[in-house]
Amino acid sequence: MVCLGNICRSPLAEGILKAKVDDSKVFVDSAGTSAFHQGAFPDERSIAIAKKYGIDIADQRSRPFEIHDFDDFDLIYTMDTSNYNNILELARDEEDASKVKMILGRGNDVPDPYYGGEHGFRNVFQMLDEACGRIATILENER
Ligand code: 4NP
Repeated sequence: MVCLGNICRSPLAEGILKAKVDDSKVFVDSAGTSAFHQGAFPDERSIAIAKKYGIDIADQRSRPFEIHDFDDFDLIYTMDTSNYNNILELARDEEDASKVKMILGRGNDVPDPYYGGEHGFRNVFQMLDEACGRIATILENER
């Protein structure tokens, strides 16, 4: 799960998907296209909305996306078009590039809630909850 800062959207996506899959079979992680917030805990508004739905993301720490993530992961879900383009630019070959998806599908962005209010975080949670439900189903069917 990849966003810009790895403090608002992708930590939520990580926590939500983890809650929907068997963690002995699926490894879920998140990262940012930037290192601006490296080492930081998730935004308190993301922690709060997750907690409301029984998901604890408070122990996550922001880290930047690194090239080896293309080797370590089968699927890379980006939150918006900018994240998508930034990660695709790092792809070393077609195999890397084929792993990169937009979590809501091409052309559909999860809006960056950083500069908005709590409502933005509720909206992001709902979008990611639906998207992660679809992803969990895909992963189930692949086994
Ligand atoms: P995220 O949100 O990409 O969902 O983690 C942001 C967090 C921080 C900044 C931008 C977006 N920032 O500019 O610091």
